[in-house]
Amino acid sequence: MNKTIIVSNRLPLQIKLNNDKLEVVPSVGGLATGLKSVHADGNGIWIGWSGLTEEELDDNLKSLVKQAVKKEKCEAVSLTQDDIDNYYLGFSNKTLWPLFHYFMEYTEFEHEQWQAYKRVNEKFAEVVLEHIEDGDTVWVHDYQLLLLPKLIKDKKPNTSIGFFLHIPFPSYEIFRTFPWREEVLDGMLGADLLGFHTYDYERHFLSSVKRIMRLEVNFNEISMADRTIKVDSFPMGIDYNKFHNAALAHLNQDESQKSELQKRLDDHIQSDADTKLVLSIDRMDYTKGIPNRIRAFEYFLNKYPEFKEKVRLIMLAVPSRSDVPQYKKLKRETDELVGRINGQFATVSWTPIWYYYRSMPFENLIDLYTSSQVALITPIRDGMNLVAKEYIATRTNGHGVLVLSEMAGASKEMNEALLINPNNFEQIADTLKIALEMPEAEQSRRLHILQKRLKRYSVEKWADEFMSSLNSTKKYRETSI
Ligand code: UDP
Ligand code: G6P
Repeated sequence: MNKTIIVSNRLPLQIKLNNDKLEVVPSVGGLATGLKSVHADGNGIWIGWSGLTEEELDDNLKSLVKQAVKKEKCEAVSLTQDDIDNYYLGFSNKTLWPLFHYFMEYTEFEHEQWQAYKRVNEKFAEVVLEHIEDGDTVWVHDYQLLLLPKLIKDKKPNTSIGFFLHIPFPSYEIFRTFPWREEVLDGMLGADLLGFHTYDYERHFLSSVKRIMRLEVNFNEISMADRTIKVDSFPMGIDYNKFHNAALAHLNQDESQKSELQKRLDDHIQSDADTKLVLSIDRMDYTKGIPNRIRAFEYFLNKYPEFKEKVRLIMLAVPSRSDVPQYKKLKRETDELVGRINGQFATVSWTPIWYYYRSMPFENLIDLYTSSQVALITPIRDGMNLVAKEYIATRTNGHGVLVLSEMAGASKEMNEALLINPNNFEQIADTLKIALEMPEAEQSRRLHILQKRLKRYSVEKWADEFMSSLNSTKKYRETSI
């Protein structure tokens, strides 16, 4: 039977070493959480990095890792510490990530890291080629593997190859500054179908292809000498039912089933009839606008002091890429800001910001989503932002307001949210007030439309549409031979 091979830098599970024992934890981030349910239902395999380096593994541990990932229908690509330093922390997260999110001032262009990026993309290609059989489809994901489509196409020209970018594709004016722009586009063009979250990213990509590669582009098709490549936008959805049903079950919990976190949240909500919780959840990443959000919240408390002691911001920031200096700096800045604001405003019975720097299990995420009257999601740039969608899916009681940055890809499909510019504190403060005071009928009208849309365009549907579009390119190739 033909299979689909998913390839991404990070597998949906991460293996850690704890006193020489393997520990398996789920991966965080939109790519892993979104695709997990698609992978679980299919008959394919998922190829990626296990989370451990070669240096950490002896032969025995190596075979244990192999078994652990195999159980989840995965195959591990073996990476050295040097690969992680130069390909992952280096080129992927000091060059491509900031550049593609318009953080030019954070972007480094290091030749050695580029060499490592090429070398590791080849390592991935080797593992993929070991597993491909005739008729299989390969679906490559994200910015860490931009060269992989071509590396596979060169060796297996008849294999259908899809590529999906989970982050923005920047405008030509940004992309043209990139020293390896031709090589990277050439690598991506090894795919038969290239998918982006939004039409804007697709348009930016096509514009770079036209201007840098001088290729002919007709609507959303690129003509190469020997083949045609399709480009389209597929906004990624969530496993709607999983979040919705978990929230429904949560509504019916009795006291003994409640988590410690839920009990704390309840204490706050029940302390006064007017009390409200405002939630934000993100990886600790400078693209997510965390300091801006905290400063805007401070501005809000000063501008509308009637909300003091009534409203609390719950901020879950999940540790991410903490070996990259910009992320370390962001952590320090966030700690300081939270400390300063809590110090300035706190009273005996109220702290304005509850700040968690860790990841939480699914059940606790549901506690947070279902207990918060407002979600305040303010990225400076974000490919999609699934947290915004998950919040909406869990609002089973018909109430809840989403305040969302217009710089998140998700804003394109969520017009019924209150959209804000993350750099405009005045607007964020005023919008937060509107959200906190929105009449219930208005909340449920907006929620209902958003929920209907998210339910219809679930992550499963997203994957199906991508796959059937990729399949149609196959038919096209066969008829043009
Ligand atoms: N998430 C998680 N554990 C946590 C906090 C968040 O697994 O402790 C998940 C969250 O449910 C969401 C994903 O991480 O599915 C974040 O995806 P998003 O698209 O919002 O941002 P990304 O991290 O991909 O930039
Ligand atoms: C974003 C990226 C993913 C990445 C995730 C977590 O969602 O698009 O490719 O896996 O962040 O980041 P990490 O560097 O920990 O894999």
